[in-house]
Amino acid sequence: MDFIPKEIEDYALKNSEAEPDVLYRLNRETHMKMTMPQMLSGHMQGLLLQMFSKMIRPTTILEIGTFTGYSAICLAQGLQKGGKLHTIDINEEFSEIILRHVKEAGLEGKIRLHIGHAVNILPTLKEPFDLVFIDADKENYSTYYDLVFPQVKQGGYIIADNVLWSGKVLSSAMKMDIETKSLFEYSRKIQSDSRVENVLLPLRDGLMIARKK
Ligand SMILES: C[S@@+](CC[C@H](N)C(=O)[O-])C[C@H]1O[C@@H](n2cnc3c(N)ncnc32)[C@H](O)[C@@H]1O
Repeated sequence: MDFIPKEIEDYALKNSEAEPDVLYRLNRETHMKMTMPQMLSGHMQGLLLQMFSKMIRPTTILEIGTFTGYSAICLAQGLQKGGKLHTIDINEEFSEIILRHVKEAGLEGKIRLHIGHAVNILPTLKEPFDLVFIDADKENYSTYYDLVFPQVKQGGYIIADNVLWSGKVLSSAMKMDIETKSLFEYSRKIQSDSRVENVLLPLRDGLMIARKK
């Protein structure tokens, strides 16, 4: 489902920063070689993530769900000097394309890729996070939120992608598949969590932004 009419999106993009060369090439290569290229954040969402990161000026970022590294490269743009972004993906096959583009973006020392199931990797990451981006298997969003929450600094952010799930979260509970149900429950969980303030931003497939009070 396209939430924003194509011509409006084109106009918005025409009046936004151009996609940097390395991200343009990564976007293109992902579309040529990967079976599900639509998983990549893309130019508009990438710009927004980059802008958030530049506003937050994080020391440590955690990303769950790297895919080919597009959003990691965007988020890392706002890191403070000496800052680090940890990104986790279960699929080892993406490593080459991720690491090549991270190097081309000049972010080799700033992005650390962890391969494995996020549930197993998360307990090994001990540092506090300023910003967390959840963008992996939808069934585990709530688990990831609970696991990372204690490590998110006061005033830190947890952003989750795809919370609108092409509008399927509006269907009746009986008709929801497991992913839709998990995303529906994730938004309900954040909305009722008094420890955070939140906004569901209907950009692309929906971003739930939660700030730890
Ligand atoms: C939507 S894609 C991530 C897109 C990326 N953040 C971007 O914006 O370009 C989701 C990724 O999560 C990964 N993934 C799925 N289940 C996972 C798990 N249990 N642990 C870690 N990564 C997982 C998939 O391999 C896939 O690459």
